[in-house]
Amino acid sequence: MKLSNPTLFHEHALINNTWQSAKSANTIDVFNPFNDEKIGTIPDLSADEVAEAIGFADDAQKSWASLTANERAVILHRWADLIDEHREDLAIIMTTEQGKPLKESRGEIGYANSFIRFFADEAKRAYGDVIPSPNANLRYVVLKQPVGVCASITPWNFPSAMITRKVAPALASGCVMIVKPDSQTPFSALALGELAIQAGIPKGVLQIVTGQADVIGGVLTSDERIKKLSFTGSTRVGKLLMEQCASTVKKLSLELGGNAPFIVFDDADIDKAVKGAIASKYRNAGQTCVCANRIYVHQTIKDEFIAKFTKEVSNLHVGDGLSDDTDIGCLINDTAVQKTQKLLQDALDKGATLITGGKSHPTHARCFLPTVITDITDEMDIAHEEIFAPIAPIFVFDDEQEVIRHANNTPYGLASYFYTRSHARAWRVSEALEYGMVAQNTGLLSTEVAPFGGVKQSGFGREGSKYGLDEYLTTKYWCMDVS
Ligand code: SIN
Repeated sequence: MKLSNPTLFHEHALINNTWQSAKSANTIDVFNPFNDEKIGTIPDLSADEVAEAIGFADDAQKSWASLTANERAVILHRWADLIDEHREDLAIIMTTEQGKPLKESRGEIGYANSFIRFFADEAKRAYGDVIPSPNANLRYVVLKQPVGVCASITPWNFPSAMITRKVAPALASGCVMIVKPDSQTPFSALALGELAIQAGIPKGVLQIVTGQADVIGGVLTSDERIKKLSFTGSTRVGKLLMEQCASTVKKLSLELGGNAPFIVFDDADIDKAVKGAIASKYRNAGQTCVCANRIYVHQTIKDEFIAKFTKEVSNLHVGDGLSDDTDIGCLINDTAVQKTQKLLQDALDKGATLITGGKSHPTHARCFLPTVITDITDEMDIAHEEIFAPIAPIFVFDDEQEVIRHANNTPYGLASYFYTRSHARAWRVSEALEYGMVAQNTGLLSTEVAPFGGVKQSGFGREGSKYGLDEYLTTKYWCMDVS
């Protein structure tokens, strides 16, 4: 990795502002998913070492919470300034360990930083309430206070943004945080940790622990000193963590799987819908929880939509994320490629038509070509599963109620998209879609200023916006007799 500032690259865990190896000296290898070159190693910490980090967090909690929101904001803005300053290096680290195109990595660093800046200031507005009293002698006040020591378990698909989206509201509101990044993409997290130290974030306030997910998850979920866990990842693991957190009744935020419908009505601006579908479907090679998973196109416009969409897809460059002209990088690992092939084969065996793509790049096996398939039916696995790959299955529908019924026919409820020019339909559809997020006439909805999160088995809790701050605050009711 050619970094302007090589000190950003750490192969140690960040504990109490020191860089540490595992006492056992055990490590986990980290590889570049594009070319399988080894990037480095991270410590495989033991349960006791993670518990020790929780002790440091617990020690730091009171003094961090005692700073004013303004004092914390100054430190957080300093961190954000350093992230801006090192944006290119951070993007290179991200692409090298995750595979996404450099332009997306640069975008993600900006997105990650937007959470730090937003929450640094938003915490100054963590207002409580004074409730008008119905009793002359009594007064009612509501105080917002930090939850306490928090932990987060973050995914490989957004190695920086999913960290700052949790760490920033936690730290801004006066909580300290222990982060467990995914072992496939730990170096982005550790580079953010280096900059956090440089920014003056005190000991124990932000710690980054590395190692086996089950070992670290087991400690973070069962330790009484951790008051809140925030997790982004699969619904399967989310359910497990929820069970594990039950014994200590932790506050939880879960951002889990999605199965986003992308509906194009007959009155839509088709060119705009094509552009939105490309942006939503192929972002990060289809590996986001909010990627369009099922594209529903009205019968009367399907030919035009499919022709235009396929033409755009054929212009996408697939390959090494570090090349400037790459639009779609590789999938994260071989399991992801095998799952993609299996889903596609199942659809083709059951009658789907392959329009374009359908296989890996001839010389880069982990880069799956952007694929379009039509003639999709409900019997196919691809109609129900989260694809997490660059395959766009196109369904055809005839009427509004029918498509809403299909769109809602899933245990998931994260993001949804629809295109229409009708104001009345926009209201009807937005209200009817059983999703935490609805995007109309756009394929990208993520921003630090709006609440990101799902319903049903896509989880609960919100990230970003004032709602995201609330996840790290408790509500204390104060009743006083003033007679
Ligand atoms: C995710 O895929 O989990 C996050 C996507 C986003 O923030 O846009």
